[in-house]
Amino acid sequence: MLIVGNWKAYVETATKAKALMASAKRLAGGKAKHRIVIAPPTPFIGLLAGKSKVGLAVQDLAVSAGGATTGELSMPMLTGLGVQYAIIGHSERRAAGETNSDVAQKVALAIKHKLVPILCVGEVERDLDATYLARVREEITSALSPLSTKDRAGVVIAYEPIWAIGKSASEAITPSDLAEMALYIRKILDDLLPGVTSASATILYGGSVDPRNSKELAKTGIDGFLVGRASTDVSTFSALVKAIS
Ligand code: PGA
Repeated sequence: MLIVGNWKAYVETATKAKALMASAKRLAGGKAKHRIVIAPPTPFIGLLAGKSKVGLAVQDLAVSAGGATTGELSMPMLTGLGVQYAIIGHSERRAAGETNSDVAQKVALAIKHKLVPILCVGEVERDLDATYLARVREEITSALSPLSTKDRAGVVIAYEPIWAIGKSASEAITPSDLAEMALYIRKILDDLLPGVTSASATILYGGSVDPRNSKELAKTGIDGFLVGRASTDVSTFSALVKAIS
């Protein structure tokens, strides 16, 4: 499985960042079954970079072309440090004003710079009319449509229902609802990936994953997790990974 730890802005000191990374390296070492990727706050990326089995991600994508753009980041600053993945369209960025069209632009930019986009999609709430399904379809379709089939196939989809983010394990999605959603997302991908099997796509789930629910949620046809809060504590993250190993 692919397990992405999104530290958000929870991790605020270099000491903590280094301790968490050291633990992630232990989890990813030896005969580890899972690929671990860490998305630290950007100022810590240089500190944590270096040859390692742990992949590095950014939590959002820089769109500056460099030069006279005070306060901005540009892609070569990140790729030069060995960043391989980019979380794009996280609901906390969308809440700050990011649109589907911004997201599509960032996904294309990531691919141009050979980063694997982790495209976050998910509904605010579940309504009885199931309009939330249309929202998820639109978020995926608008980001993938401008790409070639080959590039579409390389986008990791992170399904993160907003109602389940930052809560407790008991408020996360149920395994049966997640299994249904994973199937639905593969159906959307089937439509977008002519000639490619959606079975090979990587679909993550995010939203209150922790050591108590990771094992059950891992059995629902998904390919991994995007973990927020539980990835910012050494023993919780280790327990989460061990529960599915
Ligand atoms: P959470 O966050 O695990 O703290 O719910 C997940 C996310 O927002 O990526």
